[in-house]
Order: sequence, then structure tokens, then C-alpha cells
Amino acid sequence: MPTVTMNINGRQMSANVENRTLLVAALREDLNLTGTHVGCDTSQCGACLVHVNGKAVKSCTMLAVEADGADVDTIEGQANADGSLNVIQQAFQDHHGLQCGFCTPGMVMSAAALLKENPKPTEAEIRNHLEGNICRCTGYQGIVNAIMAASGQSVAMAAE
Ligand code: FES
Ligand code: FES
Repeated sequence: MPTVTMNINGRQMSANVENRTLLVAALREDLNLTGTHVGCDTSQCGACLVHVNGKAVKSCTMLAVEADGADVDTIEGQANADGSLNVIQQAFQDHHGLQCGFCTPGMVMSAAALLKENPKPTEAEIRNHLEGNICRCTGYQGIVNAIMAASGQSVAMAAE
């Protein structure tokens, strides 16, 4: 079986995988990084979203062997160095951006990708960006508010 080596959250990690192994399966099952979730089998939900070489990728749409040598960022690497929640994670907590939390890793990674490219998105831009992420619990207003807050913008006008 091929060996895949990735720089995951700043740490070199390797796994022996089959050619058909999806990146999400390698992360969860071979590398024990279970914060990346599987919420569908149709590439629609976004629960599996990670960053590969700085770009948001649904890790159920990519083979692990395709990520060989890549920089991969997952939810496990998002907290601050002291273990506290980063600004996006904290904003999700503060603005009721989650209930069961199943979609949350993908939402946070998606938000991080958005804010990297667009540090002050409008509400419409946030909603458009989240088109590929499904939450079955909250309704989306809390998630949108959290991303507005994480970008330093007021959410006072939005209903929580
Ligand atoms: S598990 Fe990848 S999009 Fe749903
Ligand atoms: S918080 Fe439950 S699926 Fe989003």
C-alpha cells in the first residue's frame, strides 16, 4: 500500500493507505484526527472540510494519495497555542453557532478560508460562501452572526 506523508497542522504525519482511500478516511481512521466529520455520501454537507495547501477542500472528494506532500490543516490545529479557542471558534460559542456540533468543524474551517480571502465579508457574502456547508440543527443565523463577529463586525442588527 502506498505511504502518504502530509504536513498536518504543522506536524509531519504518514499513513499507509490504499489507492482508493479518501483523504477524510485517512485523517479519521489512519491518523485518528476524528474532528473532521463525514456527514453525507454525496459531497454536499461540508462536514469534512479541511484546508489543503491553504485552500478549502471537502476531504471526501480527494484521495489521500493526492494529498501526499501537502500541507493539510484540520480543526484539530485551529485552537490557539495555549489551547484556548481561536477567534472563530469562540465566536461560534458566543453567538450560538452550533447545537449538536456535527457540522461545526467544517463550518469553522470554511469560515477560516473565507476570512483569509475576505477579512470583512458582508452577510450576503458569508451566506454565499456557506452554500457548501449544511447544518441540520441551528438555522444559519447564529453561524452567520458568529462569522460576522469573528471578522470584527457588529452583529447587533441581526436577530440571534
Ligand atoms: S462528508 Fe464530505 S461533503 Fe459531506
Ligand atoms: S450544529 Fe448540528 S448539524 Fe450543525
